[in-house]
Amino acid sequence: MKKMQFHGIKVLVCDSYDELSAEATKIVAGAIKKKPRFVLGLATGTSPLGLYKGLAKANKAGEIDFSEVRTFNLDEYYPIDPKNDQSYRYFMNKNLFNKINIKKKNTRVPDGQAKDVKAFCESYEEDIKAAGGIDLQVLGIGRNGHIGFNEPADKFYDKTHVVTLTKNTIEANSRFFESADLVPKKAITMGVGTIMRAKKIVMVVNGENKADAVKGMLTGDVTPKNQASILRFHKDVTVILDKEAASKIL
Ligand code: GLP
Repeated sequence: MKKMQFHGIKVLVCDSYDELSAEATKIVAGAIKKKPRFVLGLATGTSPLGLYKGLAKANKAGEIDFSEVRTFNLDEYYPIDPKNDQSYRYFMNKNLFNKINIKKKNTRVPDGQAKDVKAFCESYEEDIKAAGGIDLQVLGIGRNGHIGFNEPADKFYDKTHVVTLTKNTIEANSRFFESADLVPKKAITMGVGTIMRAKKIVMVVNGENKADAVKGMLTGDVTPKNQASILRFHKDVTVILDKEAASKIL
């Protein structure tokens, strides 16, 4: 593993996805061990799957306890039924929550069926605040630099809000649906401000198709055209890459 630093962001370049997942597990599990009532921010996507397997394994081995942990997920499609196997709620239950000793009531994913979505977004922010803020936020990155569903734009959005997905993201995510038409056109996402208020951030990124987004985030301008670039202004970010995702910064 190679350790690097870009504008204050710690970067770990790993030889393989397995190594990347093991490093991420070490950091996240280590943090949870220190604080039983941990508030964990979670992400969906293929990138954190290895991390979630690692956390489930550590839980099973009795190394970490989720019984008092509370979680907030970054985003969810809108509208979507939580029982739909493409919903992020379904993804989280399947890949993490059902495999650890967390109380389901302590797991939050934005409500893809909210009737008053604006009111929902406000309440999500309030609930994060009431929980004492996010101790550690897990992130992936989109091919266009999005974090959560904060798509390239002319500004950074502060709080949880509704977004219209870009064509690029709908295409990227259509691999999970039967056709691109079935991908919801909107989503609810934490804002970039919500993410930046997390005390610690761990981003996991693998694959060559992310190499440009990673390069933009670490070496380009801080710009809402690459929403992840704002992470440079956060004081505790670790980005864990495999060689392919790091191929344009080495
Ligand atoms: C999705 C999610 C993001 C995720 C990203 C990358 O659209 N909204 O939170 O980080 O895209 O996904 P993957 O890890 O599958 O490449």
